[in-house]
Amino acid sequence: MQTNSIQKAAHIIAGGGVVAFPTETVYGLGANALNPVAVARIFELKERPSFDPLIVHIDTFDWFAKLTKNIPPEIIRFAKHFMPGPLTIVLEKSEIVPHIVTSGLNTVGIRMPNNAIAQELIRLSGCPIAAPSANKFGQLSPSSAAHVRKQLPDADYILDGGSTQVGIESTIVAFHGKECILLRPGIITPEEIALHLPEGYTLVAKKTESIVAPGLLQSHYSPKKPLFIFEKLPKSFPAKSGLIVHQAIEAPKVERCIFTSQTENYTEVAAHLFSSLHAMEDDKNIEQIYIQAVAESGLGVAIMDRMKKAAFQYSGQ
Ligand code: TXA
Ligand code: MG
Repeated sequence: MQTNSIQKAAHIIAGGGVVAFPTETVYGLGANALNPVAVARIFELKERPSFDPLIVHIDTFDWFAKLTKNIPPEIIRFAKHFMPGPLTIVLEKSEIVPHIVTSGLNTVGIRMPNNAIAQELIRLSGCPIAAPSANKFGQLSPSSAAHVRKQLPDADYILDGGSTQVGIESTIVAFHGKECILLRPGIITPEEIALHLPEGYTLVAKKTESIVAPGLLQSHYSPKKPLFIFEKLPKSFPAKSGLIVHQAIEAPKVERCIFTSQTENYTEVAAHLFSSLHAMEDDKNIEQIYIQAVAESGLGVAIMDRMKKAAFQYSGQ
């Protein structure tokens, strides 16, 4: 089903249903975060393993106090600097957050999306919304309602908010004492995070220990066709190849060429990354996809993270 009433969607969420909705990053598949049965349907529809915790989406800071506990005031100030926006912060959870949401962890990922439809949906639903990206587990993330319909036609409702602006999932950080751990790179770069950390805090690279974050698995976000990353443009391509590049070049002889940007503008590349992969996945004339690498600094870190995971199963490793 696909229509566009936020009221209707909110009514479905409040009644225990599952709704796909836009955020500024990618589309989410949401249910009332405080209703474990509703949340269970997300796992079922997505075919997602139950060890993979969900992010809880909020519209006001009041929810912070209700959903988390023992949070130092300076971390709340840090959160307020970036929220609403594409940052998820993993914090100690309060008792009202059901275990199914956090896969049994004592922490919960909190995010306030910077998207008017998402905010209105949370407000009208009257509850925080637990939502993973609205794709089948392991497949490409959705940056449009059409991408959601392709993978999750059984959602109770799909709110269409057009193409998402950022295009890749939120940056995720967790706090352990005075350490801020980057769990998933995103459009908010490590440099920006480090700049706004409270005094005495340091940004550290991800540790493995007991944190469960399957978004960090090596293989994820994969198209259903072989995907190869290249740094130097190959001289020739096999028949039925799709090529994705990030700057204006004279397209070589390929079945189809998609430009995510004309000028290697990484904000544009991120915004069009998943949609270009979806387009190649859907194109019956394409049998394999070649995508140009980007430099791994700034936003390029998050873009390469998604590309490598998408290509991992085809990389011969
Ligand atoms: O931009 C986004 O973050 C999108 C939109 C819909 O908000 N959501 C999203 O959710 O990407 P998902 O479920 O596809 O990815 C969330 C990642 C997962 O890898 C999960 O393991 C991790 O966040 N995560 C969630 N709660 C966590 C927790 N308490 N501790 C560690 N990792 C957590
Ligand atoms: Mg996801």
